[in-house]
This record gives sequence, C-alpha cells and structure tokens, in this order.
Amino acid sequence: MTAPTVIRIGLCGFGTVGQGVWKHFERSRAELESRLGVRLELARAAVRDAKKKRGVSIPAHKLTSDPLSIATDPSIDIVCELMGGTGLARQVTLAALSRGKIVVSANKALICEHGAEIFETARRHGAHFLFEASVAGGIPIIKSLREGLVANRFPLIYGILNGTCNYILTQMEESDTPYQAVLADAKRLGYAEADESLDVGGWDAAHKAAVLTYLAHGVWVKTNQMIVDGIERLTPADFRHAEQLGYGIKLLAIISRDFATDELSVRVHPTLLPSSHVIANVNGVFNAVSVKGDVVGTTLYIGRGAGQDATSSAVISDLADAVELLKNDRRAFITARKESRNVTKKAACKLAAPQNIRGRYYLRLTVKDRPGVLAKIASLMADQHVSIASVIQNRADRPDAASLVLTTHESNEKAMQSTLVRLKKLPAVVDTPLLLRIADFAD
Ligand code: NAP
Ligand code: HSE
Repeated sequence: MTAPTVIRIGLCGFGTVGQGVWKHFERSRAELESRLGVRLELARAAVRDAKKKRGVSIPAHKLTSDPLSIATDPSIDIVCELMGGTGLARQVTLAALSRGKIVVSANKALICEHGAEIFETARRHGAHFLFEASVAGGIPIIKSLREGLVANRFPLIYGILNGTCNYILTQMEESDTPYQAVLADAKRLGYAEADESLDVGGWDAAHKAAVLTYLAHGVWVKTNQMIVDGIERLTPADFRHAEQLGYGIKLLAIISRDFATDELSVRVHPTLLPSSHVIANVNGVFNAVSVKGDVVGTTLYIGRGAGQDATSSAVISDLADAVELLKNDRRAFITARKESRNVTKKAACKLAAPQNIRGRYYLRLTVKDRPGVLAKIASLMADQHVSIASVIQNRADRPDAASLVLTTHESNEKAMQSTLVRLKKLPAVVDTPLLLRIADFAD
C-alpha cells in the first residue's frame, strides 16, 4: 500500500479546543508538513450553530451542523471529536472508528463511560483512538505512561488533574475572592466544562483518573466505584486552618495499587498536602502528576491543564501520531499495551475495601458552643476507633456556635464514614461536617 500524500482532517466541534487546534495547526502547518512528509488539510468542521460569531475564522463552506457527516465522509482520514458529552460524541466516535478512521479525542467523560466499547470498536476495524488531550491538558501524560514508562508497574499515581478547580482553589487561598466570581473567571478563560459541576464536583478529575487507571492497570473503574468529593464546600477558613497545620489544599486524584494484595483504589478529593510539597505549590490552571514506577522511581509532570492553547498542543501531537500511523499503514509504534492485553484478560486487581484505604483526616464541624460538646465528639470518635491528633477551636459565623477543626491519627475510610454518619446525628452538631483527607506524600 502506498503512503497517502494528502491527509484530510475533520473537526467535530469548533469551540474553545476546536478553534485552538485550527489556529495552531494553520500556524505551524508548513513545518508539520515538512516534518511529517505529507500535505495536511483541515477539511471540515462541525458546530451546533453555524451563525455563531467565533474568535477564529473559518471559510463558511467548511462548516456543517452535522458531525456525523464528517465521521462518515470517505474522504476524511482523521476525525477529531472536540464536542464533549457522551451521546452524539459516542455516535460520532464509533461511526468514524467503524469505518477504519483514526479518531483523536479530548473527551475524558466519553472515554470513562464508553472506553471499553471504543477501544474494542477500534480494534475490530483496524482503526485507532488517540486521546492525549483527555488528561492534564498540555502535559504528555498518556504518552509518558504508555511509551516512556513502558518498563514499569505503577504503585502510586496522584496529582492535580483539573485546571478549573486548581484555579479556583489558588484564588481562594491567595485572595478572599468569592467562589462564584472565580468560577465565572475560569469559564471566561475557557477552562471549565460546558457543565461546570463536572469540574467543581470532582467528576472531571474522576474521568481523567479512570483514563490513567486504564493505562496504568488495564481496568476500567467507574466513577461510582471511586471516592469522589468536590471542592464546593471548601471555604477560605479551611485554607487558613490547613496553613496553620503546615498544609496546602489541592483537589487530588489518587490511584494506588498494592501489588502484594493486588488491591486498587481510585479517588478524587480535596486533600491537605504538606506546604513544602512541590504539588502543593502548583497553582492556577496548572496540573501536576506524580507517577511512581517500580523501575524508574518517582517522575513528576507539571504544565497547563486546561485552556485553548495547552489542549490544542496535545490534540496536534495526536494528529502528528495519526499521520505517522497512516503513513505506516496503521501499524502502531508501540502496540497499545493496555488496550489489547488487559481488557480481554480482565486484569487481576480488585478494588480496595474501604477499611483498607488508610490515611489521616481533617474534620471541620460547626457545633453549639456548650460545655461537654468536645468531650461528646471525642467519645463518639473513640467508639469508632478514630484517634484525634489535634484540635483548633474558633468562633463560628453563627451565634452561640464554635467552629472545630480536628485532625486524626491514621484511620480508614470505613471508620471515618461511620464517624460522619454519627456526628451528623448529634444535636450539638449544627452543620454538615466537612471531611478532608491528609496526604503525607514525601515526593
Ligand atoms: P466548547 O467550547 O463548548 O465547544 C464545543 C463545540 O462542539 C462547539 O463548537 C459546539 O458548537 C460543538 N457542538 C456541541 N454539540 C454539538 C452538536 N450537537 N452538533 C454539532 N456541534 C456541536 O467545548 P471545549 O471546551 O472546546 O471542549 C471540547 C471537548 O474537549 C470536551 O470534551 C472537553 O471536555 C474537552 N477538553 C476541554 C478542555 C478545555 O480546556 N476547554 C481541555 C481538555 C479537554 P457551537 O460552537 O455552535 O456551540
Ligand atoms: N475542565 C477541564 C479542567 C478542562 O478544568 O481541567 C481540561 O480537561
């Protein structure tokens, strides 16, 4: 088979990411063509509203409101799915893959929900699905896990995977800007998902954690099998308390596997991280991923995790790989290691039971400011075998109430969840308690 001389690309979605891809692709097209040795054509783009005013101009005849017409167009070799969502995006992706096309995607929600079906469809039709932009924006974390770290098993991967949340948390920590104002800013800057509750609720980071888990361990973990807590209930006071204790607060995704018991846990939650830790100092829209490999040790990746430019950088890297695949008659450079091997084999690891997920905790309570309340709380926690390490008491915002911040010695998820249930029922506890995890990661 002779290598193609012109490769035609279709963009399904021409919003923040789609326009960024177009803009940067056109800017660097001559260099890309010379390095890849083919002519490249951005042939068509699909949008919902063709009349919408856009920051990047595109010839009107290239626009369509029918993304499926791009996915099924025989003259298009590579389809970029940059619409988002899991309905039409799934249809477009499967339609293109089942025609043997290469699909490039930034859609972590889709991969988390339908990854098994997508990879199986690609395999069956000799197609390829590339997804560098789906996790950690411009950081090449997918390539690193799949190619650069191919020699390793991964006992621990953790980090900041959502730029919107990190942007909000940084602003909350550094200034007393109200949460809603910072969120509006993150939306204006093109960081947030169309449905921003995916960001602040921790779901977007959970989708990304599912993708990394699949690459590292070859299993699909659904979000309902993870612990997922968002950042909505954090207040500036939590940052002050954390600082007093020597910590910063970050929304972390943590994927840990104990290779002795073969238990895997995947979780996303606001986490107290020692202030001196590198990741505690990664701010704004930046993401950071720490990957511990059993051969290499710990490696750390930091870069912009959201926004038009960082994301297009990752999409264009996939486009270049897609071109190489087409030139090489679709033979993958490193056969997608986890994609074929572990999915069929149903990898051996199982999800860790809550009592085996261990750590220290931060608990914020608003309580009636009465004698004996602290003693009651301490006794309730002792009944659950949870040992208190420190207590900070301040006046609460409401009258006759105190704000209590407790940290615990090492405990586990089961004990802490049953502690929470019991605390909520105490008449002296006047607000839903806030539970944060403390991670004493050394590197
Ligand atoms: P966006 O700005 O909302 O753009 C979505 C694009 O898809 C728009 O052009 C929209 O058309 C089009 N679209 C949506 N539904 C459609 C439909 N039914 N038919 C035709 N076109 C449709 O979203 P985005 O921020 O670019 O995100 C796109 C994808 O990239 C998502 O999966 C997101 O999770 C992922 N991602 C985003 C970022 C980021 O920083 N923004 C980073 C990494 C990954 P209109 O323009 O006419 O509305
Ligand atoms: N909404 C996502 C974020 C976009 O803020 O991280 C990048 O995936």
